[in-house]
Amino acid sequence: MTLWGGRFTQSLDTLAWALNSSLPVDQQMAFQDVEGSVAWAKAIHKAGILSDEEHASISAGLDTVRNEFASGEFIFQPSDEDIHTAVERRLSELIGVAAGKLHTGRSRNDQVATDFRLWMLNKIPELHSTLIVLQNALVEQAELAGETIMPGYTHLQRAQPILLGHWWLSHYWALKRDIERLQDLTKRVSVLPLGSGALAGAPFALDRDALAKYLGFDEVSQNSLDAVSDRDFAAEYLFVCSMAAVHLSKLAEQIVLYTTAEFGFFELSDAFSTGSSLMPQKKNPDVFELTRGKAGTMIGLLTGLMSTLKGLPSTYDKDLQEDKAPVFAATNTLLSILPVMAAALRTITVKPERMRGAIDSTMMATDLADYLVAKGVPFREAHSMAGRVVRAAGENQVRMEELPLEAYQAISPVFEADVYQVFDPLESINKRNTVGGTSLQSVKMQIAECKMQNSK
Ligand code: ARG
Repeated sequence: MTLWGGRFTQSLDTLAWALNSSLPVDQQMAFQDVEGSVAWAKAIHKAGILSDEEHASISAGLDTVRNEFASGEFIFQPSDEDIHTAVERRLSELIGVAAGKLHTGRSRNDQVATDFRLWMLNKIPELHSTLIVLQNALVEQAELAGETIMPGYTHLQRAQPILLGHWWLSHYWALKRDIERLQDLTKRVSVLPLGSGALAGAPFALDRDALAKYLGFDEVSQNSLDAVSDRDFAAEYLFVCSMAAVHLSKLAEQIVLYTTAEFGFFELSDAFSTGSSLMPQKKNPDVFELTRGKAGTMIGLLTGLMSTLKGLPSTYDKDLQEDKAPVFAATNTLLSILPVMAAALRTITVKPERMRGAIDSTMMATDLADYLVAKGVPFREAHSMAGRVVRAAGENQVRMEELPLEAYQAISPVFEADVYQVFDPLESINKRNTVGGTSLQSVKMQIAECKMQNSK
């Protein structure tokens, strides 16, 4: 059975049928399709299209269909073109001709958009809580890090000493923005298209506000042409997922780097490392590499949907059937990465001595300039003098703190014996005590703020 066919004398070619069918993808929206139908039956009953008996029979039939999906007893037929056809076909088997009245005034165009939005509204909280699980793992590591110091980098060159906790939390805030984007997107998903018909609206008095309220939508769409074609929410969702994947990828890349023998800042637990079939010594960070790799695939999904949308004439075009697979794939990817990342991060062993060993006194050259500034030297001059100290140490092949005071004073008489204090990295860190800085106090406040945000 198809939901069409009256005007055809030939049935659809088998290969064309297979191409056209969307059931393998859209059966993920089975529950949403049933809920949308329950709401629709209620609405058209109220509009006088269904009698009380017909409405009761359709509602009971849909309850059975829902139960069959829930118990796994629902049997799809080869003739089910999509999830909408499957539900209606089963309903007619269960209740007979009355099932044929359910589709009055409705089109699969407004139906599919409604199902898809319902599916997304249901998924967003799950993504949200999975992102929070990862954030919590970062906060835990930040707390454990305490006073552990590490080199901070710009251009991947040693820059200034920072607290490891500050580094962990830098990834927390990126995820925080992803969560905010997800929340903000919700209001654009929560617009009901149902009642738009194929494109022009419903031909009877339909209480769309009641329909929206019943299904949990915040608003109803205001233009039926736009409503059946709008997939902005899907593109936006893919962007939100892709941005999160980019954040995960950046974090993963750093873990890959920091677990190398060259860095040696972190060690992965065996539970989250893989071996090599050839080289017995290998311990590979596959989980993190896959995270990095999947971000690329995810960006492709976003780009793909944007390309599908860009040339479409209004209103519904079958191209739109391509909207669900990327959204489902992106969701599955994120939901498979996030918990593994969280668990893998929690079990990382930190090597504080390696991190400390990677800090050399040239990283305190800025502090040296600040020292001169505190003694009244303008920053530009101080910067140049500190640079000359770096050069002198290099030329003499000694560390900056090993240069004798005379060498300092040859550069500027402003240098005094207290200059050697600037080479303590923890001092340097704790001087950066503004909100958002790397000092121990700032990071403690940051941890408290993160915990507060996540307990809301
Ligand atoms: N399977 C279709 C989709 O996912 C449902 C809408 C079909 N509408 C139509 N007029 N053939 O977009």
